[in-house]
Amino acid sequence: MLDYGGQYSQLIARRVRECGVFSELLPHHAGPSEVARRRPRGVILSGGPASVYADGAPPLDRELLELGVPVLGICYGMQLLARELGGRVEAAEVGEFGRSHLRVPEPGRLLAGTPREQTCWMSHRDTVFAPPPGFTSLASSTASPVAAFESVAHGVYGIQFHPEVVHTPYGQQMLTNFLEGVCGCSRSWSPSSVIDEQIERIRAQVGDGRAICGLSGGVDSSVAALLVHRAIGERLTCVFVDHGLMRKNEGAQVIAAFRDHFHVPLVAVDAVDRFLARLQGATDPEEKRKRIGAEFIRVFEQEAARLEGVEFLVQGTLYSDVIESGGGTGAATIKSHHNVGGLPEEIELELVEPLRALFKDEVRAVGAELGLPEQLVWRQPFPGPGLAIRVVGGEATRERLETLREADAILQDEIRKAGLYRELWQSFCVLPDIRTVGVQGDARTYGNVVVIRAVTSDDAMTADWARLPYDLLEQIASRMISEVRAVGRVVLDITSKPPGTIEWE
Ligand code: XMP
Repeated sequence: MLDYGGQYSQLIARRVRECGVFSELLPHHAGPSEVARRRPRGVILSGGPASVYADGAPPLDRELLELGVPVLGICYGMQLLARELGGRVEAAEVGEFGRSHLRVPEPGRLLAGTPREQTCWMSHRDTVFAPPPGFTSLASSTASPVAAFESVAHGVYGIQFHPEVVHTPYGQQMLTNFLEGVCGCSRSWSPSSVIDEQIERIRAQVGDGRAICGLSGGVDSSVAALLVHRAIGERLTCVFVDHGLMRKNEGAQVIAAFRDHFHVPLVAVDAVDRFLARLQGATDPEEKRKRIGAEFIRVFEQEAARLEGVEFLVQGTLYSDVIESGGGTGAATIKSHHNVGGLPEEIELELVEPLRALFKDEVRAVGAELGLPEQLVWRQPFPGPGLAIRVVGGEATRERLETLREADAILQDEIRKAGLYRELWQSFCVLPDIRTVGVQGDARTYGNVVVIRAVTSDDAMTADWARLPYDLLEQIASRMISEVRAVGRVVLDITSKPPGTIEWE
C-alpha cells in the first residue's frame, strides 16, 4: 500500500491484514522498484489531503501501472488514477464529508455482493465526473457522479469513499473483493503466522550470541521477550527494574509470568529505595521524568555490565513506530518517551526488533498465541515514569505513592468487574497535592482528593473522557473512601484531549 498522507492509511493496511492478507505501508515516493522488490499481488493507493491539481501534489508513477498487478485507488488514489488515465476530475462546488448515500447500478467485480443502495463514508472535495475511457462507472452518490469505477482489462479499480471505516458497512466486503476476487490472494496470513518466521529470523540474526531485554510489563516488551526466548532460549536475559512506581502487584505479575511460568532468565532489580531517593524534592513533571529516566539508565547499565558477552538488545518496536519515524528500512532509533525512561545510547548493542512488522492489536494476538497471561496481553498503556507523574503538584513520596496505588487498585478492580477494562484506552487515578475537609462517623476528616481519569482513544493523540456509569462511579468512590484511609474525597475528570492531555503531568 502506498501512503499519500491520508488520515486512514494505517487503518487500510490493518483492514487488509484482517482479511488474512499481509500488507505493508510504504511512503508514496517509495518508487516502483521498491514496490516490485516485494513482489506484491496488488497495490493500493491511499487517500491524502492534497488536491490532484495543487502545486506539489504527490504524483502517480506511471510505472506502477505496468507492474502487472491490479491497482486499487482509494479517494485521492482514485482521483490520481482517473486523471492519469484520461478521466475527468474537478473540484466540486461543495465537498462531501461524512455519511453519504451510495447507489450501485453496476456492482462489477469490486462492489459484487453488496446492496444496490447502501451508505458509505466520504471525505473529499475533488470529484471524479467521468471515468477514464474504457472504464465502467459502478456507483454514484449525491455529490459524486462516479463514486467507484473499474476496468478489468486495465487491472485498475477506484473508490471515492472510505471502505476501511465502520461507517461504510460493506467496506470490508469490497476490500475482500479486491484482495481475493481481483488479486487472487488467499486468506493465509495471520499475526500468529509470523511467529515461526520471526523465530527463524531471530536465530539467523543472533546466531549463538547473547541478548538482553528490558521488561517493563507492557505488552510490547513482553511479547518481544517471549519471541526471542522461543528462538534462543537461555541466551536471553530479561532485566526488570522495579522502580516502585508500578501499580499494585504489577511487578509480581511480571516476575511470576516470566521467571516462574516461562522460565526466562530474569534479573529483577529492586530499585525502589534508589528511585524514591532520587525523587526527593522533585515536584516539576519534567524534572521527575528526567530523574527517573537517568536513574533507569544507570540501573540498567549496571545490570547489563554484570552479564557477559551480550551483543544484542531486544526492543518491542511496533510497525506504527517504524512508519512514524519515516520509513520501513531506516536505522532504528531508541525513543526515550515510549520506553521505560529510555535506554542508554552509549550501550553498543545491536537491536533485535521482532515486532517491527506488527500493529498493536496484532502484537496482542501473538502474545495470546504464545500463552502470555490475559492481564499482560490486554494491559492498558502505562507511562514509563509510572505513578510518579500521577502524584501531581507535589513530591512523589512513599506514602503518597502508597495511597495512590491503593486507590488505583480499587479503580482497576471495579473497571475489570464491570467488563470495561478493554474498552478503555486508559483508566487510572491521580493524586493532587490537596487535602479537603470531610466528615466520617461524626468526626472531622482532612483527607486527600483522588481523581478518576478514564479515557477512550485509538492512539492517544486525541482522547474522549469515558462516560462511566454513575453506579460504577459511586461504587468506586465509596470503596476508595472506606478502604483507603488517606482518601477523603473522589472526583471525576471530564476533560477530553485536546484541550487536556491524558496524564495530568
Ligand atoms: P498525554 O498525557 O501526553 O499522554 O496525553 C499520551 C500517552 O503517553 C503516555 N505518557 C507517557 N509514556 N513516558 C511514557 O512512557 C512518559 O513520560 C509519558 N507521559 C505520557 C500517556 O500515559 C498516554 O498513554
